[in-house]
Amino acid sequence: MEEHQSKPVIAIVGAGLIGSGWAVVFARAGHPVRVFDPSEGVRARVLSWANVSLDEMTETGLVEDPKSILERITVLDALESAMEGAVYVQESVFETVEAKAAVSRSIDALLGDGVIVGSSSSGIPSSRFTAECKNRDRFIIAHPVNPPHLIPVVELVPASWTAEGVVNFVADLMNEVGQKPVRLTQEIDGFVMNRLQGVMLNEAWALYEDGIASIADLDVAISHGLGPRWAFMGPFETIDLNAPGGIEDYAYRLRDLFTGMVREPRGWSDEVIRKATDERRTILDAADLAARRAWRDAMLGRLAAFKKSQELQD
Ligand SMILES: NC(=O)c1ccc[n+]([C@@H]2O[C@H](COP(=O)([O-])OP(=O)(O)OC[C@H]3O[C@@H](n4cnc5c(N)ncnc54)[C@H](O)[C@@H]3O)[C@@H](O)[C@H]2O)c1
Repeated sequence: MEEHQSKPVIAIVGAGLIGSGWAVVFARAGHPVRVFDPSEGVRARVLSWANVSLDEMTETGLVEDPKSILERITVLDALESAMEGAVYVQESVFETVEAKAAVSRSIDALLGDGVIVGSSSSGIPSSRFTAECKNRDRFIIAHPVNPPHLIPVVELVPASWTAEGVVNFVADLMNEVGQKPVRLTQEIDGFVMNRLQGVMLNEAWALYEDGIASIADLDVAISHGLGPRWAFMGPFETIDLNAPGGIEDYAYRLRDLFTGMVREPRGWSDEVIRKATDERRTILDAADLAARRAWRDAMLGRLAAFKKSQELQD
């Protein structure tokens, strides 16, 4: 406990799905966490949600002292109180330019010397909402995957005016709290993860629209096929291991196959969305979505615990 008491304070601004997850990430690593959300209902849920999540994480061995972790989280009803004494602010408000710009202005006005701000923005680059901030060189995107307390990756995307030291500070902080930073050198729509995911989603929709495979079979191709490997290695390591002579051998053997399959982007038509929705709803009733999300988080917790036990975090 003692070593934890000297760790710097982290402010969480916006405490929905993602902000609550971030609160657990920083508190779990020993940081005092001060959370602000304007919604009374949301504020009321933060600690009870964290309590349940931490109990599950204790069961799988991901955390050892849930009570101390919970005690480090303070929920407040004013932005100013949450930012008091914080060295880093993680913003997780609604994904609109207007909401991000308004909250960034408010944070900027209260920003103490050297304090840094990371936005959880999924796709809006920070240059679109921090241009007017007087401390805009201290704002960066720190984009997590949902839920951040169970999936460690975080994309760091600087705007052209973000200071180099800010990128290094956030990378070090994320490593220190057990997250896995992926550094982008500049802004690009969708950042890296949604660009990679987008290629596969576009292809999955096209294969479905053309009647090549059902929704369920396309999901099995990933969950029982490509996905298990991806829990431990990325595309480049995968192909390096999949040809006797490594990545170069793989590239020369298969580049014609892969580059020959690239197709023109196709819109996801209303018609195909309706058809896919009907098919998916026969597999999982809308009323069961929340339970299935909880199941997903439980599975992710077990997978994270397994990776931790095998020291596979890298
Ligand atoms: N849900 C995901 O899968 C996911 C994944 C990665 C990143 N993100 C990003 O994280 C951010 C938050 O998403 P979410 O899913 O948690 O949304 P959410 O709707 O669950 O939470 C947003 C919260 O922001 C609060 N808020 C609104 N205005 C505010 C303000 N001025 N100050 C403080 N709080 C304010 C709201 O009360 C709400 O509780 C978005 O930028 C989103 O794109 C979401």
